[in-house]
Amino acid sequence: MKIADRMQAIQPFHVMALLGRARELEAAGRSIVHMEIGEPDFVTPQPVIDAGIKALSAGFTHYTPATGLPALRERIAAFYLDRYGVSISPGRIVVTPGASLGLQLALAMLVNSGDNVLMADPGYPCNRTYVHLLNAQPVGIPVHADSGYQPTVEQVERCWSRQAAALLLASPSNPTGTLLPEDTLRQLYEYTRSQGGSLIVDEIYHGLTYGVDAQTALAVSDDLIVINSFSKYFGMTGWRLGWMVVPQDCVRGIDKLAQNLFLAAPTMAQHAALAAFSDESIAILETRRQAFRERRDFLLPALRGLGFDIPVTPDGAFYLYADCSRFSDDSYAFTKQLLEEAGVAITPGVDFGGNQPGRHVRFAYTTSLENLHEGVRRLGEYL
Ligand SMILES: Cc1ncc(COP(=O)(O)O)c(C=O)c1O
Repeated sequence: MKIADRMQAIQPFHVMALLGRARELEAAGRSIVHMEIGEPDFVTPQPVIDAGIKALSAGFTHYTPATGLPALRERIAAFYLDRYGVSISPGRIVVTPGASLGLQLALAMLVNSGDNVLMADPGYPCNRTYVHLLNAQPVGIPVHADSGYQPTVEQVERCWSRQAAALLLASPSNPTGTLLPEDTLRQLYEYTRSQGGSLIVDEIYHGLTYGVDAQTALAVSDDLIVINSFSKYFGMTGWRLGWMVVPQDCVRGIDKLAQNLFLAAPTMAQHAALAAFSDESIAILETRRQAFRERRDFLLPALRGLGFDIPVTPDGAFYLYADCSRFSDDSYAFTKQLLEEAGVAITPGVDFGGNQPGRHVRFAYTTSLENLHEGVRRLGEYL
């Protein structure tokens, strides 16, 4: 077949090769401590599972409207009022198959071919792919520890050009777990709008913050797009469900795209998600948030003690982004070595962009404290 040119710009995740190798080693009887996986190890809370089963038994197996089940859109709007004190009309909420599709809808609506989309580097790798699919160009803003691995207004101004259509931010970020300060977010919003561009904020790791409550970007303005998901805080990765909040005048366009691209998010998952906001589910999720916090509070000093440089204490997500240059300046080779020789799987920096990837790795604390202790013990012995 004649393959489209854009395929050359699309990279596989190096961590998938590592995961494949880890599975091979496990099949051969080796024990591997997994600190590379970007999803909660907890299963979906039982009340949500029960609601999903009930929905199937009741025959809810048809499409919903493309924008989502009206009851779920209302429930999400109520969540914004409860959790953030921000009033959102349910009509501005669109339910999507994961944040993945929310990001793609937002970009498809805003970006012309040849445009630029600015984003932090390191950042979530799929964002670059979504932009390439539109024959547009991702522009990485190299972010460092001094700004908490989030772009500053000065950096965005420097990277902005006439081709720039949008700025895409994530708070807390993957891979760094750091939050964007509210005043910076406000300034970035104002700058982007002053240039005629749009702001998209990925809040998928909201709910997973430790000791600080992240405020939604919707508190800054209605005139931006927020992406969120049931995957991380709600522990529903496999149900493929997320949502976006868009300005009122964009709902029609997003609805049109959703109708054409995926018809509707999974019906069973939408019914199940109605139970995700119950007191019972939230109590379970808050206990898990506490468990993630304990893991972070163990792993961060332990890795620093081993010689990894982690200059910023991350406020959220379940990642630690570490400078490993004391051990290697080829982080991919280093992660392969750790897997083979120490039995510990982590993610190399190359998966997150082109900003000093060779000297960075990402640790995910999506495994039990006991496993983390064992991982640190193995790393200590090997290093
Ligand atoms: C920053 C970020 N955005 C979006 C996604 C996509 O998540 P999902 O499609 O499962 O909601 C991920 C998944 O890891 C992520 O880390």
